[in-house]
Amino acid sequence: MNNPNDPLFQPYSLGDLALPNRVLLSPLTRARATQPGDIPNEMNARYYQQRADAGLILSEATQVSPQGKGYAFTPGIHSPEQVVGWKKVTTAVHMAGGRMHAQLWHVGRISHTALQPDGNKPVAPSAIQPEGAKTFISADSGMVDVPEPKALDAGEMSAIVEQFRQGAINAKSAGFDGVQVHAANGYLLDQFLKSGSNQRTDEFGGAVENRMRLPLMVVEAVIDVWGKENVGVRISPTGSFNAMYDEDPVETFSAFACRLNDLGIAYLEVVEDSFQGNHANGRPEEVIDAIQAGFKGTYIANGAYTAEEARKRINAGRCDLVTFGRPFIANPDLPERFRQHAELNKWDDSTFYGGDERGYTDYPTLKELEISASRKLLSPKGNKT
Ligand code: PHB
Repeated sequence: MNNPNDPLFQPYSLGDLALPNRVLLSPLTRARATQPGDIPNEMNARYYQQRADAGLILSEATQVSPQGKGYAFTPGIHSPEQVVGWKKVTTAVHMAGGRMHAQLWHVGRISHTALQPDGNKPVAPSAIQPEGAKTFISADSGMVDVPEPKALDAGEMSAIVEQFRQGAINAKSAGFDGVQVHAANGYLLDQFLKSGSNQRTDEFGGAVENRMRLPLMVVEAVIDVWGKENVGVRISPTGSFNAMYDEDPVETFSAFACRLNDLGIAYLEVVEDSFQGNHANGRPEEVIDAIQAGFKGTYIANGAYTAEEARKRINAGRCDLVTFGRPFIANPDLPERFRQHAELNKWDDSTFYGGDERGYTDYPTLKELEISASRKLLSPKGNKT
């Protein structure tokens, strides 16, 4: 059954890390940090530890500052308590033999005055309200519209860069193995990259050279802290989630890929279609070609792929590594299941965001399923054990 040539199980050297397989955990917002304070906790540590067989774990999106927060219950990496909380997580993952990068996040306009310090407006490249974009501001708020943001002044850019730099420093104190800069899915850095959300007329807007300026400043600051071999970037060139649009994703993202290549980062993770199937703009394969022409480092594909599709894409040279989201939520032992071509647990999307252990740390592994099946066989009918 186990194929020694299975492309998903060829080891891979990623920067300073030796990955035992190509099955990576996507960064996944689960909104279960301890309140108040958005602090990672023991339950979060257990969840990540259960998934430590991933080639690499990418943490859920983690705000670099109070201003960078966009959803209730998401964790941060800017307070001492949060760093202590993350240390519990990375220790649990390392004890189980895993490797983990922190995903550094600033949501930009995808936030709400109710979540911002002093009730301020969320910040963005331009004062454009993302039509139809929603967030949740409390356990019982439901999804609410995000308001019109405030456009950042040019003088405020260095403060944004410093937020990411401090997040990178804190990620080091918290014991992570590296960091991923979140420049995808309609959050702050993606808002700068794409023409639909960035209508600035200064050196941070207009031509692609200007739209990438802030994202590149951030990546450089994070490289200063971690070294280029421990830094990755996530992009979603054709994604429309959070009301995103770019008039020329091939031009924008081939330019960005070239610049990231020059900076020598370890990897680029590309959301190849769009977050949760939101209708894409631009043709993904054409954009992927353009990115790969410019970026020669490790290419990580994210695209709701099945194991079989992932094997094909690796074999065809379309990617080096693959991140899996929803199947990894429901299958803590996803790599082993892929190895065995085993059946997968189904995910329950009602427990994706917020809540307790249910739908978080209670999905069974194959081993646990076998044990409970053999218990049932052993116990006489109707006899509860
Ligand atoms: C979300 O909370 O819906 C979310 C967060 C980060 C992403 C995508 C979606 O990159």
